[in-house]
Amino acid sequence: MHALFPLFSLAAACAAATIPETRDVHVIELSRRNPVTVDGVANINGIAAQMLREHSKLDRGMAAFEVNTGQVHPLSARTHESKRAVAAVGIPLTNTDNVMWHGTVSVGNPPTKYLVDFDTGSADFFIPASDCKVNCNGHTRYNATKSKSGKKTTKNFTLNYLDGSQVKGVVYDETVSFSQTVSGKTTTLKATGAAVGAASTYSNSFQLSAFPADGLLGLAFPQISKFGRNGVIHSLISQGQIKPVFGLKLANSKSELMLGGVNANKYKGSFTWAKVNPVGFWQIKVNSLTLKGKSQKANFDAVVDSGTTVIFGDEKTVRAIFKAVPGAKDASKTIGPGIFTVPCNAVPTLTFNIGGMPISIAPSMLNLGAVSAGSKDCIAALTITTKPFWVLGDVFLRNVYTQFDIGNKRVGFAKLA
Ligand SMILES: *[C@@H]1O[C@H](CO)[C@@H](O)[C@H](O)[C@H]1NC(C)=O
Ligand SMILES: *[C@@H]1O[C@H](CO)[C@@H](O)[C@H](O)[C@H]1NC(C)=O
Repeated sequence: MHALFPLFSLAAACAAATIPETRDVHVIELSRRNPVTVDGVANINGIAAQMLREHSKLDRGMAAFEVNTGQVHPLSARTHESKRAVAAVGIPLTNTDNVMWHGTVSVGNPPTKYLVDFDTGSADFFIPASDCKVNCNGHTRYNATKSKSGKKTTKNFTLNYLDGSQVKGVVYDETVSFSQTVSGKTTTLKATGAAVGAASTYSNSFQLSAFPADGLLGLAFPQISKFGRNGVIHSLISQGQIKPVFGLKLANSKSELMLGGVNANKYKGSFTWAKVNPVGFWQIKVNSLTLKGKSQKANFDAVVDSGTTVIFGDEKTVRAIFKAVPGAKDASKTIGPGIFTVPCNAVPTLTFNIGGMPISIAPSMLNLGAVSAGSKDCIAALTITTKPFWVLGDVFLRNVYTQFDIGNKRVGFAKLA
């Protein structure tokens, strides 16, 4: 039954052909590589590289929202200040580690496998092109002349990053597929004519040392697509390959992205829902944020973003929170703008209330590791952003099972099984 199939608002997405039978759900195992904490010590360069990518991405999404919808993103008016504050985080990217959740996707015919970072905070898919000469060393690259299914489009793209570097290239229509083997039986989900950015230039923060995956696969809505196109997941949906939903479980091991459904073995109880508004980012309302039972902030916007590690919050609230934590210190001058430390043995518990469900961040997750070997101060995974909304990254997502309901434009949270 596809009567309730969503119609995406982008004109390009409206070529709604007859939709074949929806397939089963499909699991992509995610691996976590290069943790941000090594032997209990925080990797500060890795955290910085990550912040740099993140802020550029959010600015870009809001600009794309305006191009695609003709409306200024309601949150973008107050974001100018962010450039200055974040540019300072641009620590040289040598020897950096990072936290990302990777999985495998195939592109082209014959299919070539790429390791990608699945990112709910952006909407486009890009990989390095075979002619890439900037920052692409070590990454698997896409050579269009070797693929029977690739077709170059007239669309070029440029993604600017705050350190002045760019990801730049040409958009192809390509076949993108995911394969899974269960009990010896392999099934494949396939989107044909999907938008794939082949980058001939990578930005500094995507070089192999800072970004172990080959490419980035955005899972947000087409309203924030810089390509002005459906992303891979929306292509799979419009081609009847999956139902319009995906589920995410992030953990130290056995992390997975489930396409077309949620994994009943990974959560318990029912989902609590938060409406996405406006549709673009996975942007929801948080009802309240509490520390030790005391409300720190109520009714605010937050973007659910698997592509970032930490939680970003507004300066006033973040300062108030750390003021209430004995031994917490502002590390803006010593480590990086917007960063705080807390005593390693007294990391606080933050609780976000969303749609009536309290979601507590385990102290072990709010702790990014010691400032240096042997230090009693640990870097907190709650940092300041000058943006007018919060960003709920991995540190948040690891405490719940999350359902991204594209069809009903809502996010569901359930307890982990
Ligand atoms: C792409 O593949 C073609 C055909 O095998 C080859 O001739 C060409 O050199 C490759 N391009 C690059 C940049 O590697
Ligand atoms: C797109 O980029 C290619 C180089 O990759 C260039 O030859 C072409 O002129 C560009 N097209 C547009 C419309 O800018």
